[in-house]
Order: sequence, then structure tokens, then C-alpha cells
Amino acid sequence: MGENQPVLEVQAITRRYPGVTAVDGVDLALFAGEVHALLGENGAGKSTLIKMIGGALRRDGGRILLHGQEVDFRSPADALAAGIAVIYQELVLCPHLSVAENVLMGHLPQTPTMAVDWPTTRRLVATLLDQLGVTLPLEVPVARLSTAQQQMVEIAKALSRDSRVLVLDEPSAALGRRDLEHLFAVIRRLRERGVAIVYISHRLEEVFEIADRVTVLKDGALVGAWPIADVTMHGLVRAMTGRDLGMLAAPETTVGQPLKLEVRRLGRRGVFADVSLRLHAGDVVGIAGLVGSGRTEVLRAIFGADQPDAGEVLVDGEPVRFRSPAQALRHGLGLLPEDRKTQGLLLGRALRENLSLASLGRFSRFGLLQLGEEERAVRGFIQSLNIATRGPSQSVVTLSGGNQQKVVLARWLARRCRILLFDEPTRGVDVGAKEEIYRLIHELAEQGAAILVVSSELKELFAICQRIHVMREGRLVGEYAGESLREDRVAEAMLIGGASDGDAAVVAG
Ligand SMILES: Nc1ncnc2c1ncn2[C@@H]1O[C@H](COP(=O)(O)OP(=O)(O)OP(=O)(O)O)[C@@H](O)[C@H]1O
Ligand SMILES: [Mg+2]
Repeated sequence: MGENQPVLEVQAITRRYPGVTAVDGVDLALFAGEVHALLGENGAGKSTLIKMIGGALRRDGGRILLHGQEVDFRSPADALAAGIAVIYQELVLCPHLSVAENVLMGHLPQTPTMAVDWPTTRRLVATLLDQLGVTLPLEVPVARLSTAQQQMVEIAKALSRDSRVLVLDEPSAALGRRDLEHLFAVIRRLRERGVAIVYISHRLEEVFEIADRVTVLKDGALVGAWPIADVTMHGLVRAMTGRDLGMLAAPETTVGQPLKLEVRRLGRRGVFADVSLRLHAGDVVGIAGLVGSGRTEVLRAIFGADQPDAGEVLVDGEPVRFRSPAQALRHGLGLLPEDRKTQGLLLGRALRENLSLASLGRFSRFGLLQLGEEERAVRGFIQSLNIATRGPSQSVVTLSGGNQQKVVLARWLARRCRILLFDEPTRGVDVGAKEEIYRLIHELAEQGAAILVVSSELKELFAICQRIHVMREGRLVGEYAGESLREDRVAEAMLIGGASDGDAAVVAG
């Protein structure tokens, strides 16, 4: 076997769906000891390609060669046995089983009497998690873990097989910076051991940090493959989108606008404490912080999804106490949650129905659906968010992961809430659509909405917010605006709590 023979080679692979060629004659070569980034807009065909590599999806044409030999995987188990592990975009853990059971799923150690050998199981899983640099409660059902933790379980599960090819479909979408560092450390270790790694991500900074080579897809077809040293950020964006993207600056600070949302010393025992925030109409305010710092929990408590046990929330100057999200909705609040899966997309239904459910309340007049208006709004969202679809009648379950995210987001944008709480609004969304989402957020703010955004991407917060709070270990540790709104200072506060009193510029309400 020559030095330069790829571990895995895909030749002219194709997959068609009615009305769309999701992957169109694509070639891909993976070499031992490389991290190979696979890039492309939402719907470009990335997940479809790796599902064929991983045996989860049949191909309509083309060949797959492993160590120079043609292979034909009929199931993910086939591919896994041949040394190809794929971590899919949609996590496939068993929510009610423990961490340990999930990690060793399918090959749990057994005692001579065929019962599960728990001491060995625990030892193996602890070692694997140790390699990842994470500590997780081994006996807790994974349903109780955060998205980031569940992701780690998935990765440990793949590591538990001695794979030669490891494919990660947007592993970082759910991870904060600290978890990402762990992941990268693990990836680098595997690379040294000669594993070929395919890394899918919409965050280009990451790609430059971790990848050795990059392949770009557009509309199912191969645009090109290059060593990372030969490409620039702009070049990649152009290859993916076919155009150049402008830079967005955060909107001007709002002065003299009415106070929409006020949070006074809000707390929830053991989760966060003493959180105070003020949002005026037109404000876009960010909360930065590491995963687990309590950001999501604050949004949930404001929205009535969890009950705070200290402090108060005022909407338009009136104290409110939401016992449920439904009450918050009636007061004009909206929450785009971190975990989109719980977001009630009607997966089997058409895009049209998902975007314009009568429950959104905007399209029914005297109980009749205003079909013309509905159709216009739906087409407007498809166009502005660049949702890759055959049209409003396509069923949502057949959209790519990122395009499903866009639909969830569009639902919230369509509701016209006056106070919007966004938790990771662009997770899994491609660069072009990100820009459009930022634009829509600005537009909503200009129309008088007050918007609170949690994001693990500092660049994102800096692109959309006039003001950023930093949360650390359940407390707000700094507020940055104007002169003090600098990435290095916010990053420092996230990591070490930074800003002593008077250091952070506290903006007067
Ligand atoms: N079961 C299906 N039926 C019809 N079309 C499908 C089906 N599955 C995928 N597609 C289409 O194939 C195309 C490629 O989808 P794919 O999921 O591979 O995109 P992707 O590059 O992974 O995007 P993302 O970044 O959003 O995850 C999309 O247009 C999608 O709508
Ligand atoms: Mg995908």
C-alpha cells in the first residue's frame, strides 16, 4: 500500500431525490492523519454525502474504495465494522439509557453469565471520557444532560470503536469554546494516530484552526478541494456561496426608547443568581458566556419555562409572573430555544404549514386563512433566508438540518413578538443565511422589538449587539458597551470573570 493511497476514496458518488440531486458525481479522497473539512451552504449535500459513506443511505451511482478496495456498506453497522464511524448531525442517543450504556452501545462488556459487567463498563467509559477531558455522571440517563454533554457522549461512543475514519457532522454546533478546545485536542490526538477525520462545520474560523484540507460542495456538486494553506476565508465564502459577503456592523445604540423588558435580581437556586437586565425598544443585547454558565437558564426563567425563585420581571413597566410559556407568549414574548428539536416543527408537514400555522395568528382573519398573504410570507422567508427547497409544499423532514433551523427561526420572526429571546439563533446555519438572520434581527429591532441574544460565538454577538453582558458561573460579571465593547475584554471576562467593579462600562438604563 503506497504512502499516498487514500484511506477512503469516493468516486463520482450520486444521490437523487425527487426533484433534486442532493449529491451529484462527487469525488472525495481522505488520507490517514488528516483533518478534512467538508464545507457548503445549507442543503449543499454534506450530510447526504457522509450518510452514504457511513452506510446509512444508499447511493444511486459512484463507488467507495476503502484502502483501495471497493466496498458496499448496507448499514451503519457494516461501515462501523470496517472502521468508519460517523457522528450524525441529529444525535442518535437513547435518551433513557445511562451515559455508560450509550457509550458502549452494542458492545457492552458482559460477565460469564451474560449480564452487563458494570465495573468493566464504568472503567472503560471513564477512560474514554478521560481522553476527551470531560467528566460526566456515568449512570445518569443522557436525556438529563445538556446538548454539549450529549455531544461528548456521542464522540466517546465513536471513540470506543477503533475507527480509521471518523466523520463529524457539525460537532461544534452545540459546543462552547471550552468544550471545543477539548474536542480539538482529541481530534489532534486521533490525527497523530493516523485516523482520517472529516469535519463539517459552518464556522470558518474553526476550519482554519483544525483542518489540513478542505472540500467545498455547492448544490450537490464538487466545487474543489484544497490544502488549507492555499485558501483564504474570503475564497472559501466565495466558493460556497458564489458571492462575496459584506460585513455587518451592530446597529446604533437606542436612546430615549421605552423600556420593554426589565429583569431585577432574578435568581433560581443552584442555577443563577442576581441577574439584572434592561432592554429598551430597539435594543439588541447579548449574553456571552461559556456553555453551562447559566445563559440558557436565564432566558427560560424570563419566559416562564422555568420558575425563578428570586427577583422579578417587568414587561412594559408592569411586573409579570409567567407560570408558563403560553402566558409569556400572550404578553408578546418569544423564545427561540437552544434545542430546536423541542421546537415543534411539524416534520411530516409541508414547509408552508410550518411557516404559517394558524397558531402564528397572523394569517387568519374572521377564522379564514388569508391564503394570498400566507403564500407571499412563506415565499418571502424562503427567499430571504435562502432556504434550499423545491418549494413551499416540500415536507420539512426532507430539508437539510440547517434549513430546518431556518424554518424554526422564520416561525419566530413571523410571530412578530415584541420581546424576543434568542438562544443560539444561527446554530447550524450557513454563512450566507447567518448574515441574512442578522439583518432580520436588526430589522425587528428597528421596528421596535427588544431582543436578547445568547450565543457561543463572540463574533456573532459583536455583529448584532450594541451591548453585551458576560455571564459566568450563574452570575453576570460584566457589561460592555461603546468603548469597552472589545472582543478581548469580553473573552477574558468569560474565562476568568474579569471585569472588577468599575472596569466594565455600565450603561445607564
Ligand atoms: N429524504 C429526502 N427527500 C428529499 N430531499 C432530501 C431528502 N434528504 C435530503 N434532501 C435534500 O437534499 C439536499 C442536501 O441535503 P443535505 O442534508 O445533504 O445538506 P447539508 O449540506 O448537510 O446541509 P446543512 O448544512 O443544512 O446540514 C437538500 O436540498 C435536501 O432538502
Ligand atoms: Mg447537514
